[in-house]
Amino acid sequence: MNLELDGHIVLVTGSSRGLGRGLAASFLTEGATVILTGRDPHDLKAAAEHFRQRYGPGRVRAFLGDLGQQNLIDELARFVDQEFGQLNHLVCNIGSGRSVPPLKENAAEWQRMLEVNLLAAVSGVRGLLPLLQKSAAPADDATSITFISSICGVEPLGCPVAYAAAKSALISYAQNIARPLGPQGIRVNVVSPGNIIFPGSTWEDKLAKDQQAVEAMLKREVPLQRLGTVAEVANVVLFLASSRAAFVTGANWVVDGGQTRL
Ligand SMILES: NC(=O)c1ccc[n+]([C@@H]2O[C@H](COP(=O)([O-])OP(=O)(O)OC[C@H]3O[C@@H](n4cnc5c(N)ncnc54)[C@H](OP(=O)(O)O)[C@@H]3O)[C@@H](O)[C@H]2O)c1
Repeated sequence: MNLELDGHIVLVTGSSRGLGRGLAASFLTEGATVILTGRDPHDLKAAAEHFRQRYGPGRVRAFLGDLGQQNLIDELARFVDQEFGQLNHLVCNIGSGRSVPPLKENAAEWQRMLEVNLLAAVSGVRGLLPLLQKSAAPADDATSITFISSICGVEPLGCPVAYAAAKSALISYAQNIARPLGPQGIRVNVVSPGNIIFPGSTWEDKLAKDQQAVEAMLKREVPLQRLGTVAEVANVVLFLASSRAAFVTGANWVVDGGQTRL
């Protein structure tokens, strides 16, 4: 299926490694121009150089900085404005489930988890919305925001509590802003991945520590009985950004091999 994302400008927050890097690669494969972000200069440079060699220097930009800080989001918005004058797709991917066990979280941990899993995305939308609005037109379908949540935000699964609550709030935020942004021609959706494996992922660690326990969990909890891949998440993110999903907004797409029941 041709997703017709050729020449589209896409910003994937948190794309120097992990899932975000895989999402960036998939957009580049489809012919889009991608802006990568991250805080670690080595990871960001490595990702940008790899992509420039593979897809050509003109289609890759990199922005270094902590997007938990509003002033850096504003700086990123100025950078995108100077480079492209508009933005077609924003993918809010920054997030982390690394936290303390349930009921061990204190106020500071709650604040940290809300900042990384909810407020970074909210601030990102606030800062970048004017550029999305420049590319959007009512009744057009080529402008989108996609949030990366988690199945932890969909139903109680024993995940860290503050992570689960922040990801639930992210889904609610997305669904609520989809309403006022729809008439402006900006579609807003969420992708909630399940257990995804990639180099450096927590599932790689868990498999190395106790492969049998992971396999038993997959057999018990996941109808498709395996971990998911970054490409499988990216396929859904790309589809939602594309005009093939022209009538889809305010939706939460779960990519989890059937693990959740709600
Ligand atoms: N991995 C899974 O199985 C899984 C499952 C469900 C949902 N998810 C969700 O998918 C998203 C990505 O997860 P992941 O496992 O790929 O995470 P990850 O491996 O920790 O990568 C996170 C990326 O975001 C960047 N980043 C983090 N904080 C940032 C900040 N304040 N400003 C700018 N960049 C920042 C990181 O680079 P720096 O550290 O250099 O900044 C990195 O590029 C998260 O929202 C996560 O909740 C993941």
